[in-house]
Amino acid sequence: MAPPVIGIEQNKLLLNNFAEDLISWHKKNGRHNLPWQIKISPYKVWISEIMLQQTQVKTVLPYYKEFLIKYPNIKSLSNSKLDDLLELWTGLGYYRRAENIYKTSQILKNKYNYIFPKKYEDILDLPGIGKSTAGAILSIAYNKKYPILDGNVKRVIKRYFAIKGINDNENNLWNISESLLPANNNNIFTQSIMDLGALVCVKKNPLCNECPLNKKCKSLKLKLTDKIPEKKQKLVKKHVNLYLLLIQKYESEKFVLMKKNPSDGIWANLWNLPSFNGVNEYKKFLLSNNISGTSSQYDYIEHNLSHLKLKIDIIKVELKKCTEVDNYCWKNIYDKIGSSKPIMMIIDKLKREQK
Ligand code: ADE
Repeated sequence: MAPPVIGIEQNKLLLNNFAEDLISWHKKNGRHNLPWQIKISPYKVWISEIMLQQTQVKTVLPYYKEFLIKYPNIKSLSNSKLDDLLELWTGLGYYRRAENIYKTSQILKNKYNYIFPKKYEDILDLPGIGKSTAGAILSIAYNKKYPILDGNVKRVIKRYFAIKGINDNENNLWNISESLLPANNNNIFTQSIMDLGALVCVKKNPLCNECPLNKKCKSLKLKLTDKIPEKKQKLVKKHVNLYLLLIQKYESEKFVLMKKNPSDGIWANLWNLPSFNGVNEYKKFLLSNNISGTSSQYDYIEHNLSHLKLKIDIIKVELKKCTEVDNYCWKNIYDKIGSSKPIMMIIDKLKREQK
């Protein structure tokens, strides 16, 4: 049950000056020099907001900078290929985001004449953009009065109003987020509440002494800042064993047997080594493709996805003769390709060894 923790009168009191206090705090203490804040445009805000979904600012920065150099505007982006975007995205994770940016760029070209739309419904319709990202774009880029509700903002709201409960109060939180919006300066307000969540109202040991809202924060008053937000039950990730075969070309170690993943499933559209779920499967693959050679363990990597823990054995197979394998090709490890982090790590290791 979603507890309607605050009554209307109390709510009004808590809302008084909320935005004002936050905005004046932000002037001195917020982040002002992030690259997407400089010469701001809807394009820059869109790309940064997609990259910042599930990813921290410091991780995003080098990717964002490279992206803007390679694709400075919608037109250049819409002339890109998905493969090029995936190559740039390699290591950033959640690769579906790159695919959604690609799809959106085609819509911007074909439907919007390279101009990012301004209407909430049109923005929400674009691939990879949910209510919170649409709100962030509309407020930050166009200074329109739209709320956001990402992880940081949820935490600020839950603490400030002392809202308990985990999954059942999403609508309530959206209503509160909307009620906090100021009449003006929604661009600054959105950035302010995000920054407060990221810099002060952090998950563990929030810096309440530095908080511009500490006089009215209900959790602080009730000494509940370490209990609110309530912790979600940790998702127990399924463990999956993977066997990746590292097979270098007989004549040249620079070439490795690879193929591109299908467009669904994990690491969609990314380049991969021959990948199997069991020893028998990979042995069958070697046998049926006439690949003979000594096999040995080359590496072991554990890699977390949002819902899985992958335990990856990398098996090196030393070829004794030239080989061609249906549906695979010999990929030069010095070519730039879109790949997952584990594949990137294996290729980097190979390069170091070949130096
Ligand atoms: N997280 C999501 N959007 C953000 C932004 N604009 N600035 C900082 N962190 C963010």
